[in-house]
Amino acid sequence: MSGNTGWVDRAKRVIAATYGRYPIAPVRGEGCRLWDADGSEYLDFLAGVAVNNLGHCHPKVVEAIREQAEQLIHCSNFYQIPNQIELAEILCQTAFAGKVFFCNSGAEANEAAIKLARKFSREHKGENRYEIITALGSFHGRTMATISATGQEKVRIGFTPTLEGFRYVPFGDFEALEKTVTSKTCAVMLEPIQGEGGVVVPPEGYLRKVRTLCDQRDLLLILDEVQT
Ligand SMILES: Cc1ncc(COP(=O)(O)O)c(C=O)c1O
Repeated sequence: MSGNTGWVDRAKRVIAATYGRYPIAPVRGEGCRLWDADGSEYLDFLAGVAVNNLGHCHPKVVEAIREQAEQLIHCSNFYQIPNQIELAEILCQTAFAGKVFFCNSGAEANEAAIKLARKFSREHKGENRYEIITALGSFHGRTMATISATGQEKVRIGFTPTLEGFRYVPFGDFEALEKTVTSKTCAVMLEPIQGEGGVVVPPEGYLRKVRTLCDQRDLLLILDEVQT
């Protein structure tokens, strides 16, 4: 077994350098604690970038994964998937939406939202209503459409030309958003609280005003809740 330094050296040889990584190789977790390859213990405030919200290796989660793995490992979307349907029913009953689209990442969810907004607008409002307004400082993912939606130049360096049809406004500035809506706008896309942008909370009432504006101007409102 390698220690942390050993894993860093091995990673350099075979792992694409798409992320700046800490020289720590977690090998075991329990609740909110992690242990690395050198045996050091950590309180895990990162939580897999905010997604391990049940902690590491909770016995009930482990049991559910084990039980499922013994029954059926993978089943494609060509079939009806009972577990997926049951989860969708729970989400529809407890959240706001009428239907659920399952995917593997935040970027894919946002890609789907961008595609849905464009398709809906094309079918219901005509050809030229495809622009989406997003916020400066936002982060929506690392695919081509989502780096285009992201309101930060640095994520686009080296990848231009990006997808056209995005306008950016300062986050939390309702007047700026209102002024940017044109006859070409089909949707507004926002994080309710910006995450990667530095945990930016908008002014009180901002989101309510955005909701009303979208209703009045017949725009779709896409809320990226990947971190919230
Ligand atoms: C607000 C927001 N949207 C989208 C993403 C992209 O999610 P993923 O890394 O799962 O593609 C992130 C990731 O940090 C995010 O914070």
